[in-house]
Amino acid sequence: MFIAWFNGLSNRSLVITILICMSLIYVSYTFNSCLLTSINRSFKRNASRQLLISTNLLEVVANVTIAPYSNNNNNSFINTNSLIGVHIVPLSSTNSTNNSATTISSSSSSSNNSTSINSITTISAHVLEAFAKYRLLRQPGSRPSRHLPDTLIIGVKKSGTRALLEFIRLHPDVRAAGCEVHFFDRHYQRGLHWYRHHMPYTIEGQITMEKTPSYFVTKDVPHRVHKMNASTKLLVVVRDPVTRAISDYTQAASKKSDMKHFEELAFVNGSYAVVDTNWGPVKIGVYARYLEKWLQYFPLSQLLFISGERLIMDPAYEIGRVQDFLGLKRVVTEKHFYFNATKGFPCLLKSEARSTPHCLGKTKGRNHPHIDIAAIERLREFYRPFNSRFYQMTGINFAWP
Ligand code: A3P
Repeated sequence: MFIAWFNGLSNRSLVITILICMSLIYVSYTFNSCLLTSINRSFKRNASRQLLISTNLLEVVANVTIAPYSNNNNNSFINTNSLIGVHIVPLSSTNSTNNSATTISSSSSSSNNSTSINSITTISAHVLEAFAKYRLLRQPGSRPSRHLPDTLIIGVKKSGTRALLEFIRLHPDVRAAGCEVHFFDRHYQRGLHWYRHHMPYTIEGQITMEKTPSYFVTKDVPHRVHKMNASTKLLVVVRDPVTRAISDYTQAASKKSDMKHFEELAFVNGSYAVVDTNWGPVKIGVYARYLEKWLQYFPLSQLLFISGERLIMDPAYEIGRVQDFLGLKRVVTEKHFYFNATKGFPCLLKSEARSTPHCLGKTKGRNHPHIDIAAIERLREFYRPFNSRFYQMTGINFAWP
C-alpha cells in the first residue's frame, strides 16, 4: 500500500515529503537534547543543594565557620579554594570534623542518582574531606591586620639584638618589624596609630615583635611601654659590658675615620685611673642602673634575659628559652643553624627572606681593634660591682670576667 502511494506521488510531492520528514527529525532531535540538558541541569542543581545542606550540617556538627569568598591579597598564608569560594586555614584539631565528614560524604554517595550526580557527590565528598582538615575563615581577627607589639626586644645595643630577632622570627608564629622603629624614644609624639602602621601584618595567634635596642637605656621608655600595654613581654640580650663597649666603639669608629682610640675615650685624663662614665659605650654597660627603672613598671617575670655570649655559642639553646617564654612551640632548633668558620659565628640555613644559607650582615660580627689589656682589666674592675648587682636583680649569673 505504501509502495502504491509512493508510486502515485509526483516528483515534486516526493521532495516536499522528504523535506518535511527531515525537518521533523531535526526538530525532534533538538527538542530531545534540550530536554536532556535541562534534566541534567536540574539534577546538578539538586546535587549542589545537597552539598550546601551537607556543608551547613558539617558546620553545625564540627563547629566550623563558613565565609563568603572575598578578595584579600595581603595574606600569602591563606589558600583560596576557587571550587567552593571560601578562604581556608589549617585546623589544629580535626578528629570530630573527620567523623562528621565521613558520615555526610558516605550518605551523599549512597544516593542512587545519575552518573553526573555521582560525580558531583564525589566532588562534594572531597570538599567535605577538605573541610574536615581545614577550618574556614570568617572572624575578622583571622584576617591579616597590623597590631601593636606584644613583645619588644628592648636591648642591649651591641649585645646580639639583631641575631636574636633574626633567629626568633624563623618561628612561623612570630612576625617582626624589619627595622628599628624607635617609637618609644624618638617618635612617641606621632602616636600609637603611627606605631601600629609600622608593624607587620599578622593573623590570629601570631606574635608581633619589634626591636629597638636604645629602649633599654632611654629614661621615659619603661613608662611609655607600660602605658601602651602593661603585659608587654620584654626581651633583653646582655653581654659582658667590656666587650659590648668595644663593639660599640668599633661600630662608631667604622663611621668616623678620625675617631680617637678606645683607651682615650674610656678614661678621663689619659690615665686608666678614672673611667669616663659619661661616655656612651661605657655608660650603657651599667645594666643594673637601667634595669631598676624597668622594674618600677614591669615584674621580673615579664622580662627574659638572654646571654649574648651563649647566643653565639649555642643559639638554639637561647632561642629555645625565648620560645618557652613566649608560649610558643619549640619550632626553631639547632637544625636551623650552622657554624660559619670564616665568619666565626652561627648563621642561618634559611630564613623567611632567603632560602639559602646566610649569615647576618657585615655590620654584625666585626673584627675589634686591639685594646690595651690594662685598659680592659681596669674596665672589668669598674663593672664588677654593677655586674654583681645585675646578677642579683635578674637571678642569673652571667659569669662575666
Ligand atoms: P660585633 O659586631 O662587635 O662582634 P647588635 O645586633 O645588638 O648590634 O649586636 C651585634 C653583635 O651581635 C655583634 O657584635 C656580634 O658579636 C653579636 N652576634 C651574636 N650572634 C651573632 C651572629 N650569629 N652573627 C653575627 N654577630 C652576632
